[in-house]
Amino acid sequence: MAVDVSDARLGDRDSIAGLLDDYLQELAQHREVAVGATDSRSYPYLDAYFSESGRRPFLIRREGKLAGFALIRDPTSTGRFWEVAEFFITPTSRRKGVGRDAIELIWRRFPGSWELQVHARNTASLRFWTSCIEASAKGAPQLTEIETEDGKRFQLDFRVERTR
Ligand SMILES: CC(C)(COP(=O)(O)OP(=O)(O)OC[C@H]1O[C@@H](n2cnc3c(N)ncnc32)[C@H](O)[C@@H]1OP(=O)(O)O)[C@@H](O)C(=O)NCCC(=O)NCCS
Repeated sequence: MAVDVSDARLGDRDSIAGLLDDYLQELAQHREVAVGATDSRSYPYLDAYFSESGRRPFLIRREGKLAGFALIRDPTSTGRFWEVAEFFITPTSRRKGVGRDAIELIWRRFPGSWELQVHARNTASLRFWTSCIEASAKGAPQLTEIETEDGKRFQLDFRVERTR
């Protein structure tokens, strides 16, 4: 099974917006407080991913077919670390290792300090990130419980080493 991660271009914006709609709807189920964007039109950063140099949009394909997307911020955008801002694998492509292979490709391309947040209720995602980080990063992530305006989240901090 071939998983491919490619830089999304402006012409891919509609594909990302479609996937973002499904992602935000799904994510809304995990929020303890119903605030925040629930579709791509109300998501405030979509256009910034196609205009700001520190924001990097990616399309994920499995055997050539669209299987998800990732929105990544680099240290020039966050000020400190790399961040997985949004990450989504379409339901029909799940539990096949697509997410794991895709994030591994991204981490290998951009080694360094990484951070991401998961809603506390999103237990599948927390398991996914913990298992990917333990397999690919240097040691287990540092896990911090934080209160945000949409409820409890876990923040995961970890380091990805450069490989040759
Ligand atoms: C979380 C998500 C990205 C996982 O993608 P995926 O391609 O299905 O994950 P993989 O098949 O690569 O799974 C890798 C490992 O993660 C863990 N994992 C993945 N999904 C899991 C689930 N639903 N329940 C428990 N563990 C899970 C397993 O350890 C799995 O390995 P295994 O299948 O050999 O047991 C996907 O379910 C998704 O897009 N969910 C909705 C959006 C979301 O929550 N995004 C993250 C926001 S922080």
